[in-house]
Amino acid sequence: MAFKMFAFCTVQLVLSVLFRTVATDNILFLQSLDSKSHHIWNKQIFDRLYENGHNLTIISFQEETSIPGKTFLVVKDFMKKVMAELSQDWDFSNLRSPLKNIKAMYDYYNTGSRILAKDDTVHRLLAYPKTFKFDLVIHDLTMGQFLLGFVDYFDNPPLVSVSAFNIPPHVITMADAPLRTTHMPHYASTYGPQMDFIERVKNTLYWGFDIFYRNCVYLANEDRRSKRLFGEQTASVGHIEKRSDVILVNSDFSMEHFRALPPNVIPVGGLHVSRREEVPPIIKQFIARAIKGVILLSFGTNIDSGMLGEQLNRDIFNVFRSMPDYGFIWKHGNPEKLDVFPANVLPLKWVPQSAILSNQRTKLLISHGGLLSLQEASWHGVPVVALPLFVDQFSNAEKLVKAGVGLSLPLTEINETNLRECIVRILQEPSYYEKMKKRSYHFKGQPEHPLDRAIFWIEKVLENKGLSYLRSPALDMNVFQIYGLDMIGVVLLVAFCYYLLVRRHFGKKKPIQDKKSKKE
Ligand SMILES: *[C@@H]1O[C@H](CO)[C@@H](O)[C@H](O)[C@H]1NC(C)=O
Repeated sequence: MAFKMFAFCTVQLVLSVLFRTVATDNILFLQSLDSKSHHIWNKQIFDRLYENGHNLTIISFQEETSIPGKTFLVVKDFMKKVMAELSQDWDFSNLRSPLKNIKAMYDYYNTGSRILAKDDTVHRLLAYPKTFKFDLVIHDLTMGQFLLGFVDYFDNPPLVSVSAFNIPPHVITMADAPLRTTHMPHYASTYGPQMDFIERVKNTLYWGFDIFYRNCVYLANEDRRSKRLFGEQTASVGHIEKRSDVILVNSDFSMEHFRALPPNVIPVGGLHVSRREEVPPIIKQFIARAIKGVILLSFGTNIDSGMLGEQLNRDIFNVFRSMPDYGFIWKHGNPEKLDVFPANVLPLKWVPQSAILSNQRTKLLISHGGLLSLQEASWHGVPVVALPLFVDQFSNAEKLVKAGVGLSLPLTEINETNLRECIVRILQEPSYYEKMKKRSYHFKGQPEHPLDRAIFWIEKVLENKGLSYLRSPALDMNVFQIYGLDMIGVVLLVAFCYYLLVRRHFGKKKPIQDKKSKKE
């Protein structure tokens, strides 16, 4: 009996394995923003799905070559076109004001969508026969909402939304996540969860403005764009995004403030940190030779040190030269422009950042404060000097400072003296290392790797053709029902009727009393 059972199970297992490798699912991956770092994050997901035998069709803003199982529709020169179209007042120095920052982001998203809608890739995808069966759509929810029209266009396959941009504010509306502006700082502010009265007022204003501007201006535009592309009968994109079965967000509570999330919003923060990266011998030797260890300076994949101006480059250079005991690896787009290098500086156009940070001899990361870089530093336990410039970088930097794992120095304020002070302070103060090691311990200490978790949920949605039981029922209700306004309305109505009755009753009695009193 036991043997029969065993044989049966084995046959089933073999069959299921065979079945999985034979039947390939078609997955449409709609990336929506031109950012190398976001591409790296998304790539971990689509590469693993490809390895698991799925057939992927991917909109990509980075050059990638199609192979059987991975078809890329590449958008070319996107960023160039967007930057050329953005208005003059879209300028970095503007972005420290939270309200302007929020508006600038949506204006940027809007311009991006306008250009993408005209792009050849979107039209190549539109040329797919409507009957082509996609078993799943993955959408990068950060921007490009009009692309959600493809969900409707391809007959509503299940939808998974993903974002490398932490938990974007609109996940609140997409998933019906609770919003308490009294302890959940908006990303454009630099507040922590403990806010004073004025901060709470301002934070509420930021959230309110964000939600209002997105719904009334940004989404309205996206909707028009989507209807123009896919036809008037297409469901509104605001409606489609709420259909997401699962929303994977690049966040981890070891690094973030508390917030409550619905069951279909699944944090997979740091899924990119353990990617395979080739470390060239020159870097290995440089790290081994540095006397007291190395310091990595990288402004991420989008900003290049060359863009920062000569003065700043010279300041950084002087600081590095004055600390010969440390080796400095400097990610720099055009190292030829710099002077002759002292032996302790290694300028490189590209750095395997996560691999360098994982080296025991790496002592510090000097970063622009991009989330993905900070996650890598946190995972590997390396303190950070953040030089924030825009978007969420100020709040990311502030979180480092509050957690005691780094220092923040706005990029527009830095000079030779304060940069050196920050670096030296961290190198000499053990508490930064202790706290960062602790954070690393909590970040890494998970039941499974965040990438495995992401893939598990995507494949679970795929296998079950949706996972609607994780979604909040409020997503299918109207505002009156959700907040019980209809009930309150009925109660008020009953109370009012009662009041009328009572008044009529007393209204009749009163004259009699009056007469009585007159008689008396
Ligand atoms: C994979 O998807 C592409 C569409 O991008 C399609 O042309 C191809 O036939 C698919 N391959 C399989 C094996 O289904």
